[in-house]
Amino acid sequence: MTQSPRRIGVLTGGGDCPGLNAVLRAVTKDAVFHGIEVVGFEDGFLGLVQNRSRPVTAADVSGILTSGGTILGTCNRTNPARLHAGVDSGGRAIFKDVTDVCIRNYRSHALDALIVIGGDGTMTIAQHLASYPGSDIAIIGIPKTIDNDLFGTDLTFGFLTAVATATEALDKVHTTAASHHRALFVEVMGRNAGWIALHAGVASGADAILIPEIPFSLDSVTDAILARSRMGKRYSVICISEGARPRDGSQVVQRIDETSPDPIRLGGIAKFVSDHVEARTGVECRQVVLGHVQRGGSPIAADRVLATQFGHHAMTLVRAGVRGRMVAMTGLKLSDVPLSEPAGKQRLVPIDHPLLAAARAVYTSFGDETPA
Ligand code: F6P
Repeated sequence: MTQSPRRIGVLTGGGDCPGLNAVLRAVTKDAVFHGIEVVGFEDGFLGLVQNRSRPVTAADVSGILTSGGTILGTCNRTNPARLHAGVDSGGRAIFKDVTDVCIRNYRSHALDALIVIGGDGTMTIAQHLASYPGSDIAIIGIPKTIDNDLFGTDLTFGFLTAVATATEALDKVHTTAASHHRALFVEVMGRNAGWIALHAGVASGADAILIPEIPFSLDSVTDAILARSRMGKRYSVICISEGARPRDGSQVVQRIDETSPDPIRLGGIAKFVSDHVEARTGVECRQVVLGHVQRGGSPIAADRVLATQFGHHAMTLVRAGVRGRMVAMTGLKLSDVPLSEPAGKQRLVPIDHPLLAAARAVYTSFGDETPA
């Protein structure tokens, strides 16, 4: 692109999260200010495949900074390289590659760039579209996900709001746990990464935090709860990540969605651990599965700020004619990395992360201690 961009596309892919509308607002307002038209594809990459789009104006994004969800809609089932196209006579799913359709549709709008806002699945697809032979799609990625598991950035928007929501839930169950002398297990999202559980668990002073990166021993969890009883603490609150698993077991899968690029949906580990602990200790146990509550609602202030910064940085790159980059937060510095960086990778909690040590120092169990 040798001259200033005149028209750009934008889409939001993957699961929704707080802050998507704040980014759309930042991108659109910057674009409009610089005389650039914005075309919004509806429902993520599905809109690009089906050429479903609409103009996005300054009026469209006015007043959406604080609202959850995405005004463009999203979809976590569309991979243009492997689009679900029905079932064969044997009931097996059929997939087809519609990458060329996306390239055609992109060209049909005379776009100078496409901003994709999403997580690892979205960035992997974006990298595929950008590097496909003959493709002229100029992509800039903006990282979002409540899971904070995107490789290449230390922070994604949506994460801090999810942590705030999970923390509030943990705080609330605390009173019931204490009043009824129960062990309360709160299962939070995060897929294979324990970031939400770790942060919300520390913020709420959970007695145990179970994360996928540290396979737990059921005996150790049981012992932690009994040890509290011996100290006169007749209740416990346990924050458990949906991806946590026992040392000698596997993750609990709630459902498998073959039409999704990432077919596994986790869920149910809290009930598994809670049933075990109740049977072994006699302490009354209950579980709360927070689910999509964590993805909803208004973004907290920090996510509104981050989303606005990310949107502006993406537009700075677009206006400079840069392509193939993903906006990132490295340390406390706004930056950008190659779009290929996050593709196919996951950013997990390192087992030497300082927050783990800080949590252990306030006697939080991670279910990996040797029982007394
Ligand atoms: O990636 C975000 C996330 O909310 C994960 O934490 C969770 O495992 C998954 O999406 C749930 O996906 P769905 O909305 O398709 O059930």
